[in-house]
Amino acid sequence: MFCVILAKKINFYPAKRVKLTLVAGARPNFMKIAPIIRAIRQAQKQRTDLSYRLVHTGQHYDEKLSHIFFDELAIPAPDANLGVGSGSQAEQTARIMISFEKELLEHPADLVVVVGDVNSTMACTIVAKKLNTAVAHVEGGIRSFDMGMPEEINRMVTDSIADYFFTTSEVANANLLKSGVEASRIFFVGNTMIDTLVHNLHRTKQPAIWMERSLEPQRYLLLTLHRPSNVDDAERLMSLLAEIEEAAGELPVIFPAHPRTRKVLAQCGWEGKNIYLIEPLSYLEFIYLVKHCRGVVTDSGGVQEETTFLHVPCLTLRQNTERPETIALGTNVLIGDDLVLLRESIGKIIRGEWKTGAIPPLWDGKTAERIIEAMLTIPL
Ligand code: UD1
Repeated sequence: MFCVILAKKINFYPAKRVKLTLVAGARPNFMKIAPIIRAIRQAQKQRTDLSYRLVHTGQHYDEKLSHIFFDELAIPAPDANLGVGSGSQAEQTARIMISFEKELLEHPADLVVVVGDVNSTMACTIVAKKLNTAVAHVEGGIRSFDMGMPEEINRMVTDSIADYFFTTSEVANANLLKSGVEASRIFFVGNTMIDTLVHNLHRTKQPAIWMERSLEPQRYLLLTLHRPSNVDDAERLMSLLAEIEEAAGELPVIFPAHPRTRKVLAQCGWEGKNIYLIEPLSYLEFIYLVKHCRGVVTDSGGVQEETTFLHVPCLTLRQNTERPETIALGTNVLIGDDLVLLRESIGKIIRGEWKTGAIPPLWDGKTAERIIEAMLTIPL
C-alpha cells in the first residue's frame, strides 16, 4: 500500500548530492518542520550527500508566534528569513512569492519541502513549480471542503501542483487519489505534529498562569480561537465567549489568544469573569495545559490532533474539519454555530461523560523518519 512500504523494501539511495529546501512560515509549521530536521540530521550521519536549507518566510514574526518555537523545539536558526510579515491575503502571498523566487534562484534545490496549509505553503509551492523544482507536501491531501477558509484554498492549490505527498490519514490518501494523483506519489507516513508531541511530552513547562490562578489538574478548561470566521466579527466572538463562560460555571477557562483575537477583544473592551485571557503560550507551556485540562474548546487544526493523541476531550468551533479522523476515532466533536450543543457538550465534559477515543494509525512519533526514508527513494 502506497510507496512507503516500497521504499522500505528497495532501500535505494541515489548517488548524487540531494539538496532540500525546507519552508516554514507560521506557528503550526514550526512543530511540523522540527522532527523533519531531526530526521535529516540523523540521516546525514550515514549520508554526506544529503543537505538542507531552512527558509523561514517570516509570515509569523512575533517572539511568541515564532522565535520561541525555534528555541524550545531546537530548530536551527533559518538559513534565510524572508521577513515578509503581515498583510492582506494577496499582499502576504505576493510578498512570499517574490522573496522566495529570489531565494530559490540563488540557492537552487532538488526538492522543496512544504508543510501544512498556511499562505507560505501555497506561495512557495507555486514559485518552486514555476522554477521547475519538485515539491513535496507534508500533510498533503487533507480537505475541509470549505472554500471560505484561506487554508482550504492553500491546500487545493498546493496539492494540484505538488509532486509528492506525505499524508497523515487514509482520508487524505483517498482525497488525493480521487483528485487524480497516482498512488506512487502518495506516501502514507503519519503525522509530524504528533512526532513533536511525542518527543516533547516529558519536558512540558508549567506556565505562569498555573500558579497565578491556582490551577489544578482536570479543574480548568482551555480555549483557543483565532479563525477569522470566529474572531473577526466581534458580536460572534462575544456570544461564543458568553456561552462558554456560562457553561463552564465554576471552572476557570484559560484563553491564550492569538494577536488577531486580542485585537478584536481590546477594541470592544471585553473583560472575562471566568475566562482568563493570556498572551500566546510557548509550545511546551501550551502542551502542559492541554495535558492537564478537563477539556479544550478550539478552532485550531493542530489542537484537534493533539487532544486526540492525548485522549483529552475537544470541542471544535467550526462547521467542518479537514481532520475527520479526530472525530471518527479521536476525542473531537464539531460544534459549528450551535450554542446549545456547545453548552451541552461542555456540561458533558465537566461531568466526565466524554469519549476517550483511539489514536489514528501511524500517529506514533516516527513519521519524520518515514518521510526521510521515503524521500530518499524519490528519483530527483
Ligand atoms: C495563520 C494561518 C493559519 C494558522 C495560524 C496559526 C494562513 C492563511 N493562516 O493565520 O492557518 O492556523 O497562522 O497562528 O496562512 N500577527 C502578529 N504577529 C505575528 C503574525 C501575525 O501580530 O507574528 C497578527 C497580524 O496582525 C496579522 C494577523 O496576526 O495581520 C494574522 O496573521 P496571518 O499570518 O495573516 O494569519 P494568522 O491568522 O496568524
